[in-house]
Amino acid sequence: MDNLVALAKRRGFVFPSSEIYGGFNGFFDYGPLGAELKKNIRDCWWNDMVRRREDVVGIETSIIMHPKVWEASGHVAGFSDPLVDCKVSKQRYRADQLFWAEVYVQKNPTDERRLIGYVSALESERTEEELVEAADTLKRKLREQGALTMGLIKDFTAAGSLFEKIPSPATGEPTLTPPRSFNMMFQTNVGAMTDASSVAYLRPETAQGMFVDFKNVVDTGRVKLPFGIAQIGKSFRNEITPRNFIFRSREFEMMEVEFFCHPSEANDWYQFWRKTRYEWWQKLGLAGQNLRLRDHEHDELAHYAKDSGGCADVEYAFPFSGEKGFSELEGIAYRSNFDLTQHQKTSGVGLEYFDQERNEKYLPHVIEPAAGLTRGLLAVICEAYTPDESRPSKVFMKFHPSLAPVKAGIFPLVNKDGMPEIAEKLYAELRGRYVLEFDAKQSIGKRYARMDEAGTPFCFTIDGDTTKDQTVTVRHRDTAQQERIALDKVAAFLADKIR
Ligand code: GAP
Repeated sequence: MDNLVALAKRRGFVFPSSEIYGGFNGFFDYGPLGAELKKNIRDCWWNDMVRRREDVVGIETSIIMHPKVWEASGHVAGFSDPLVDCKVSKQRYRADQLFWAEVYVQKNPTDERRLIGYVSALESERTEEELVEAADTLKRKLREQGALTMGLIKDFTAAGSLFEKIPSPATGEPTLTPPRSFNMMFQTNVGAMTDASSVAYLRPETAQGMFVDFKNVVDTGRVKLPFGIAQIGKSFRNEITPRNFIFRSREFEMMEVEFFCHPSEANDWYQFWRKTRYEWWQKLGLAGQNLRLRDHEHDELAHYAKDSGGCADVEYAFPFSGEKGFSELEGIAYRSNFDLTQHQKTSGVGLEYFDQERNEKYLPHVIEPAAGLTRGLLAVICEAYTPDESRPSKVFMKFHPSLAPVKAGIFPLVNKDGMPEIAEKLYAELRGRYVLEFDAKQSIGKRYARMDEAGTPFCFTIDGDTTKDQTVTVRHRDTAQQERIALDKVAAFLADKIR
C-alpha cells in the first residue's frame, strides 16, 4: 500500500490536502491524473445508470439542505460512532475499533459477568481479517474456560464500565473514558447568526436529496413507477479515525440511485440491482478473485430490510483488507418506504404516488445501490497496480483503456528531421477527442516509463521511418510490445481500442 500511495502522489493521482501546511487528516486532493480517472469512472456510472436507462433520471441537489431533512432521516439522532478518550495521552479512539470481542465470562447464569480478556482492535495496527481471527481465537479460549456468553459488543454505551478496565493503547493502563456518542455530521451555520437556530449540516450522503425531491421529479411528468433517481456528489462525514488513504476519508464522493417501485415488485428489483451493480464493477476491470458480492447476515440488516429482499455489499480485496479480507465498495439496500414515510411525516407534505395502471395510491418502496466514487477510484488504482521488475519503472498501471486518465502518448523520437512537426500535427488532430500527452523530453525509455506509471495504454512514436513511409510505432503498455501502423490509421486504432 505504501508503494501505491507514493506512486499516487509522484504521478499526480492523489495528494494529501493542504500539504504545504502539513496535510489535513481525512482530506485529499486529486491531481491531474486523479481528476481524469475520477471523471472517467463518474462518466461511466452516469452513462450506464442514467443515460442508457429509460427508467432512471439524474439530478443534483444541494450539499446543505434544510436541517429538518436530517432529523427526518434519523441522522441527527443516530448517525454516530462510539468514542473513547485516553484521559492521560488525550488520544481519541473509536470504541468499536478498540474493543472488538466481548470480554466477559459468565460460568453460571446467576454469576456476575467477569472481565477476563479482550481483543484490541486498533485499526492502524490490525487488518479487519486479523481482528476477526483474533476475536475467534479469544472466543475459542473463553469457550474452553466454560464461558456461557460472549460475542461482539454492539451497544458500546451499555458497555461503558468495561472500558474502565481496558488498558489504553497509548498508556497500557486503564485510562480510557466510557464511550460516548459522537455525531459524524459536520455542522455549520447559515446566515449571520451563529446560534442554535442557524445550525445546518454538510450532507453525509446524497440519498436524502433524492427522497426530498421525489415529488418534484414525479411532478415533472417525465417518469412513472418503477423509476429511479440518481445523483453523484460530495458527502462529508467527520470520521473519528479516517484511515487507509482515501478509503475512509472525511470528504468523499458517492454515486447513488434511489429506485422507487410498487412494494410487490421490490424483491425482484432488489435482485436486479444486486446483480447489475456487481456486474458493473466487473466491467470496470475489477474482475476475478478481488471482487465479491456478500449478502448481509440477518442480524446486520436494518429493521426495515429484515422482512424483504435484504442488503448486499459489493466488496473488494484492498491490500489493507488482509490476506482473505474484503472491504465495502458499494451497498445495495432494500429500504422499504422508510425514508418517504419519514419525510412525509416531518414535512407534512403528502408523498404518496398515484399509480394509474393499478388505480392505487401508495408510498413506493425503494432499492438503493449506494457506491463510493472515491473508494471506487482506490479499488481501480489497487487493481491496476502491476509490479514488473523488467521495466525501467518497475511498475505499470494496467487501467482498462476506457478508464485510463491519458489515452495515448505522442512522441517524436528526436527533436529534428521533421519528426516534431509530424508529432505535433498528430497531437493537434487527436487532442479534441482524447486526453493525450505530448512528450519530447529525455530518452524514449524514460518517456515509456512515465507513461507506464500513468497507465497510458498506447504510445505512438514518430521516428526516421515515419518521414519515409508514413508509419508510426505503437507501443502497447501491457505487453511492452511494439508494432507499426500507418500514420493515418492512428485515429481509427484508438477509436477501436477505447470505447
Ligand atoms: N445512502 C446509503 C449510504 O450512505 P453507506 O454505506 O454509508 O450508505 C455508501 O455509503 C458508500 O459510500 C460506501 O459503500 C462507500 O463506498 C462510500 N463511503 C462511505 N463512507 C465513506 C468514507 N468515509 N470515505 C470514503 N467513502 C465512503
